[in-house]
Amino acid sequence: MKAIRFLNECGDFTMEQPENYSYLYFPIAGENKIKSSITPNLGGDSKIDQNTFLLEPVSVENLHNNRSSRNFWCMVEGVGNWSVTGQSAEEEYKKFTKEQDKSRLFAGFMWHRIERISSKYQLEAKVTSFVPLDYNLEVMQVEICNKSEEKQTITPIAAIPIYGRSADNIRDHRHVTSLLHRISTNKSGVLVKPTLSFDERGHQQNKMIYYVCGVTGEGENPTSFYPIVDDYLGEGGSFTNPLAIREDIEGIAAEESFEGKEALGGIRFQKITLEPKQKVSYTILIGATTDSKKIEQAMLSFQTKEKVEDALQKVKEYYQEKVNVKYHTSDENYDHYLRWISFQPILRRMYGCSFLPYHDYGKGGRGWRDLWQDCLALLIMNPSGVRDMIVSNFGGVRMDGTNATIIGNKQGEFVADRNNITRVWMDHGFWPFLTTKLYIDQTGDIEILNEKVPYFKDKQILRGTSQDEIWDDSYGMKQKCLDGSIYYGSVLEHLLLQNLTAFYEVGEHNHIRMRGADWNDALDMAEQKGESVAFTCAYAGNFKDLANYLREYKKMLKVDTIVLSKEIVMLLNCSKELYENPIEKQKLLQVYGQICKHTISGSLVNIAIKEIIDDLESKANWMMEHIKTSEWVEDSLGHGWFNGYYDNHGRQVEGVFDKNVRMMLTGQVFAIMSGTAQKEQIKAICKSADTYLYQKDIGGYRLNTNFYEEKFDLGRMFGFAYGEKENGAVFSHMTVMYANALYKQGFVKEGFQALQSLADTAMDFNTSKMYPGIPEYFNDVGRGMYPYLTGAASWYMLTMITQVFGVRGEMGDLIIEPKLLKEQFDQEGIASISLTFSERQFEISFYNPMHLTYGSYRIERAVCNETILFDNSNGKACLSKKELQKLGTSLHKIDVFLTKISKAECK
Ligand code: G1P
Repeated sequence: MKAIRFLNECGDFTMEQPENYSYLYFPIAGENKIKSSITPNLGGDSKIDQNTFLLEPVSVENLHNNRSSRNFWCMVEGVGNWSVTGQSAEEEYKKFTKEQDKSRLFAGFMWHRIERISSKYQLEAKVTSFVPLDYNLEVMQVEICNKSEEKQTITPIAAIPIYGRSADNIRDHRHVTSLLHRISTNKSGVLVKPTLSFDERGHQQNKMIYYVCGVTGEGENPTSFYPIVDDYLGEGGSFTNPLAIREDIEGIAAEESFEGKEALGGIRFQKITLEPKQKVSYTILIGATTDSKKIEQAMLSFQTKEKVEDALQKVKEYYQEKVNVKYHTSDENYDHYLRWISFQPILRRMYGCSFLPYHDYGKGGRGWRDLWQDCLALLIMNPSGVRDMIVSNFGGVRMDGTNATIIGNKQGEFVADRNNITRVWMDHGFWPFLTTKLYIDQTGDIEILNEKVPYFKDKQILRGTSQDEIWDDSYGMKQKCLDGSIYYGSVLEHLLLQNLTAFYEVGEHNHIRMRGADWNDALDMAEQKGESVAFTCAYAGNFKDLANYLREYKKMLKVDTIVLSKEIVMLLNCSKELYENPIEKQKLLQVYGQICKHTISGSLVNIAIKEIIDDLESKANWMMEHIKTSEWVEDSLGHGWFNGYYDNHGRQVEGVFDKNVRMMLTGQVFAIMSGTAQKEQIKAICKSADTYLYQKDIGGYRLNTNFYEEKFDLGRMFGFAYGEKENGAVFSHMTVMYANALYKQGFVKEGFQALQSLADTAMDFNTSKMYPGIPEYFNDVGRGMYPYLTGAASWYMLTMITQVFGVRGEMGDLIIEPKLLKEQFDQEGIASISLTFSERQFEISFYNPMHLTYGSYRIERAVCNETILFDNSNGKACLSKKELQKLGTSLHKIDVFLTKISKAECK
């Protein structure tokens, strides 16, 4: 039987004894910024940001080390003390024996329930956790049922340690910061308001109140409290064997206060006698607020069991609605996984790239490339909010084509880099166009290119190689002109600048320099001589696409010229001789950087669009040709692929070195995606990848072969064990991009294999040992690592929708061009997808009664709402933007009938 079983269409699932697996945790969070992780034993943590942790911060190793958790005890008269969350010394001892409590997890988007039955205590408990929509708090509802034939008398006690400070203090001043604690009890719980907050900003007066409060399901207050850890545990005690529980020690009253101690949300409820089958429930709120009135309000809002259930229902509905894409293929299990994958981009928007136990780095923000790629999925699910996001994100681009890497809390807010350790990631300039392109395709809103946005300005100039010594706070963080006014350039100008500057920043082999790293953050030790051929391909693809979109722009907006800042013109139309000369290219870039290092002229020039198109195409062709002629490598068996990198000694990285085959996936992905690799080369790449990188049972395509060298002239990744993270793991993000690239070029079977092996491994719980979703990577034995917060989810979803189901926009028209394989249709030959497009909800079904596979079918007929037939020239079905706008906002059904391609058509 499958370890994880789905219960319904929503993706709710269940699993037995989840605590018998290591490293499992689940996210529950709210739009108000509270973010928690929760384990099967109710461990994990909860925080608002880096400096505001309600519960002690945890990384994965703490999940089995820590005894501190969201505990809830029942002191059962005449029997003993039962932890309903399984966090007791007794249960630890019984684990893996026949006496172990029977437990079962139920979970869905943002809610988590553990049911646990104890044969010894003859009690059943259901503990439900979620973050309600309107409050910055976590609700823990505990329902106890007497399973015995006899009456039983229990005294319930919640015991949740309140950490109440910055994550920095987990080791740094852990004790001293407890001295700042001011702890009090009120009628419903324990409140902690530290006097100061110690964090990287220094010592700040603190206004945050952390609290754990409780109420019975009938609205009754607790009877006493255990606010101090020391007193509760007793000398030599622990959270799994505390003195107060062991010896049944009464707590202290409400309205007491204490200073300078580690605090506990210890809440004792009235002793109660339960008849057989009788149930009783308790609600615990774990929260943080600067406004003490909010605590009272919250207590009222969750005062009864019914109110809690109502709030839970709202949470369920809210997130089900947010994930507004549903899939139907031959495998129901896979369809459920796809829904969880589609939920992941929402999690990453809320958690950033930090704040779940594996993600124990960073301070909550997202990096530049993540910001843009996360938009891809959001664009599909909620396009209306994305326009503003895209436009304001362009405000992070500097005049030299680099960008701010510290993203502020608010949309479009970037933080100046004040230290001298600047890093320029050479891939950053590539991503904004990818997202903007998808936006234009989905909406047809090519006018976004005309939006005027400022440029970011700080001390960093000349692409991070020098400092503008006269810049200070009085200048501000927006690029200025000579006359002191802020300069606003179009989105199109920002895009041109990001890509054109990259063209000139080349190394000795005339590929774009690595600088700090590219997509692979761990290729970070080749600053001087490293080059990324992989991303040179990617940029070349951008140049071609930019040219194509400029053609559309010209046609749709009926304009022949665009306005650009005078300075930028020198980056266009350089002589073709310069293409071949890396030194001259760098020089030109240097001259450009000097011109705009402090202010720019503010003068504008009109340039013919045609001229720009020609220039972009000429540069793209040159780059692609250069790569094709210089970077194709082969082994002795005739396998071939592209070299993707040069190391810090200026040496080609991939190929065969003393029989050691060195192949990396990234270079192949962008060679294919950009159109640099020709058909025959793609075939060869696939063969090589299958030979050297593919390992089905651990998720499929690895990021690289084993180099057997600590190659520190390229990056820290070679310090990682092989098969982990960026060193040769099956890294989902790159594997999905590989699949995407293959689908895009019509290599459907190959793309499917990449996508499906990832999913197959994730779905095989005995290997992946993870809840539904896609992990950042699978380790050497196939365990799913770093679940939930990965950019791979955005790409997986995008690839499924726009490539596999082939439902996508082209300048705002809805295009349907399925690339489904035979095995993806159900027994009746049907596959379907529900999604929103152009603010309308569609259910699109594909009928393939002859069970044909991709390549042997074509669209025979496509029908919308049973009446409108639409044009299906070029094998695609199309519903024009105009037609779309005529449709109402109710659900629309589109039926797509597939038929066999005739021999003549095959030709
Ligand atoms: C992570 C980072 C991403 C980076 C990648 C490879 O991937 O978020 O920016 O490119 O590692 O170093 P993710 O966790 O999003 O899959």
